[in-house]
Amino acid sequence: MKLTENIYLVGGYGYGYSAVGDCNIYMIDCGGSLAIVDTGGGKGVPQIIGNIERMGFDADDLEVAFISHCHFDHIGGNKGFKEATGCRIAAHEAEKEELEGLGEMTLYSMGLERGLSFEPVKVDTVLRGGESVKVGSVAFQVVHTPGHSPGGISLLIEDGGSRCLFPGDTASALGRLGFINGPGFVLPEWKSSIKKMMALEPDMMFPGHGTFLLSGAMEHLAVYDEKLNSPWVNIVTSVG
Ligand SMILES: [Fe+2]
Repeated sequence: MKLTENIYLVGGYGYGYSAVGDCNIYMIDCGGSLAIVDTGGGKGVPQIIGNIERMGFDADDLEVAFISHCHFDHIGGNKGFKEATGCRIAAHEAEKEELEGLGEMTLYSMGLERGLSFEPVKVDTVLRGGESVKVGSVAFQVVHTPGHSPGGISLLIEDGGSRCLFPGDTASALGRLGFINGPGFVLPEWKSSIKKMMALEPDMMFPGHGTFLLSGAMEHLAVYDEKLNSPWVNIVTSVG
């Protein structure tokens, strides 16, 4: 599903677009080469590749799968995508071991309870935050945004004159409060990560769950800023 000039939704259980357990999966057309953000819960890889090819792209052009963070619903397709397309897996250094060993931070046991099982795979490109990763003609600005998990990253690209943010699960539309109090969750880090995102001044936002935003991203981030810094807040926890 084409969302902007070069950004596509290629998977997501929440949209009925791929298998159960899949977060939203976005593809960026980098001009000859392709990148995706996250790989889903694992079961959806064939459907996601099918979606990519139905839109006229060759999945063999997939160069990089950026991993927003280590939770099972974002990493389960790593092996499948790597084997099917030859892409490299890029993730933050704080979560490399978790990804390669399916450690506690990945919430893999929660995935198993939901009928998802997959094998780990090596991280090929270690991200630290602060760098820019070029894929084809597109520069991905990598920002370390922990809080939801220790090695959460956000990616910023320019597309059609808009600043487009991929925040993983660290932010979503309407200031939805997601997974809280799990292993690796740190509230003060989350608060400062929201401020880091706001400093990027994004126009559009493409979160790991729920709807994407084609404008007004700053207003939705401001809701978090207000909620997280209020004296009392009605917190709803969910990983869906
Ligand atoms: Fe998550």
